[in-house]
Amino acid sequence: MITEERITAYINSLDQELSPELYYLEKEAQENKVPIIKKETQGVIRFLLQMLKPRSILEVGTAIGFSALFMSEYSPKDCKITTIEKVPMRLVEARKNLSDDKFSHKDKISLIEGDALDVLKDLVNHNKSYDFIFLDAAKAQYMNFLPELMKMLEAGGILITDNVLQDGTVINSRYSITRRDRTIHTRMREYLYTITHMEELSTIILPVGDGIALSYHK
Ligand SMILES: C[S@@+](CC[C@H](N)C(=O)[O-])C[C@H]1O[C@@H](n2cnc3c(N)ncnc32)[C@H](O)[C@@H]1O
Repeated sequence: MITEERITAYINSLDQELSPELYYLEKEAQENKVPIIKKETQGVIRFLLQMLKPRSILEVGTAIGFSALFMSEYSPKDCKITTIEKVPMRLVEARKNLSDDKFSHKDKISLIEGDALDVLKDLVNHNKSYDFIFLDAAKAQYMNFLPELMKMLEAGGILITDNVLQDGTVINSRYSITRRDRTIHTRMREYLYTITHMEELSTIILPVGDGIALSYHK
């Protein structure tokens, strides 16, 4: 938690309620310790979807489909959502949830199975483009994904990156980070420096949830 718990709890208490279907899916994810977007992050994504009304969304990191189904509820009717996942155990649940008729906007979503870097290269080769990209996968790989994402992010589009502050540890000195987490720490700092200094992007980092970076493609 990188913000004061009581403030977050108060802000969350004002947030719109989820549909019963999403509420139960969120609960299931929490019970099974599947890392899905936090309430605060949901608020930011919902706000951006309603304001920007994207036509084509790309998500990297489906898990069990919660955020894709969440985005399907708040995006325009004709919006298409492509989401990528590689872990077999997650895919079993994602396939089940994304084909469940109780989610009335599920037909907007296409699940692509495979390693994101390969899938992203493939999408680039097929000249795909997106006006809303949500990056929520293996943090150490964000730098590798970025060049491919930039090829597909339309001018005027937005790239949202979740978990960028890593529970606040991203601000710590490299030497105070356990050896095991050092690579991810270095790579996240490199990613944040890059997206905040790229000519093509205007980026703001919000201390919301686990830290969200919003990058607007100028
Ligand atoms: C934080 S979870 C995604 C949560 C989801 N966006 C939600 O909020 O409902 C990250 C997911 O990314 C997947 N992932 C990590 N690295 C990946 C890669 N290289 N290719 C595809 N999926 C990957 C993980 O298996 C995991 O399910």
